[in-house]
Amino acid sequence: MRILAVIGALAIVVGLGAAAFFFGGFYSVAASAEDPAIVTWALTRVRIASINRHADDQPPPAININDAATVQAGAQAYASHGCTNCHGGPGVTWAKFSEGLHPDPPDLKDVVGQLSPAQLFWVVKNGINMTGMPSFAAAGVKDDEIWSIVAFLKKLPGVSEADYKAWTASLATAAPGPSK
Ligand code: HEC
Repeated sequence: MRILAVIGALAIVVGLGAAAFFFGGFYSVAASAEDPAIVTWALTRVRIASINRHADDQPPPAININDAATVQAGAQAYASHGCTNCHGGPGVTWAKFSEGLHPDPPDLKDVVGQLSPAQLFWVVKNGINMTGMPSFAAAGVKDDEIWSIVAFLKKLPGVSEADYKAWTASLATAAPGPSK
């Protein structure tokens, strides 16, 4: 009985201590602070498990993600929705500010091999909470366009700089530039 009382008292002290630490402002929310290895490990495991459990959408029958036209449309969507600012792309360097994001946005050609089309779709559609990765559904991008982005991402490791430039060239000319 006595031991239970001690455990209960300890739990209360730990709870109050944690509340004072977090709500008292002692925890630093700085993006420049390094996380302890165990925090990085836990966040990564939670992200992978969550995406695994939630990602179960399949492309609608009208969309073939291996189709060259879909891949090219996906390259244009990738460029026009600003993915390159954070992730870069073939021949395109990410914006400098993305180096200040925490966690760091990955170079996508290194990670797309480990993610299924359903998982890529889920991440781009829903984003990753409390990281810089936005929900593109919340930003107004329709599912069909997200599937084209998935088609492009699955081919990304083999896309040359010249191909990417050619596929996105129409955007460069269509984009509003400074008037002369
Ligand atoms: C403002 C910066 C930002 C933009 C813009 C952005 N991302 Fe991300 N993205 C991130 C960050 C940060 C992560 C890493 C999150 C993490 O480590 O949990 C990420 C992760 C990802 C991942 C990997 C998820 C995983 O499980 O490994 C994919 C795929 C991805 N982004 C695709 C995209 C696509 C496609 C676009 C454009 C439609 C895009 N991102 C736009 C910041 C961004």
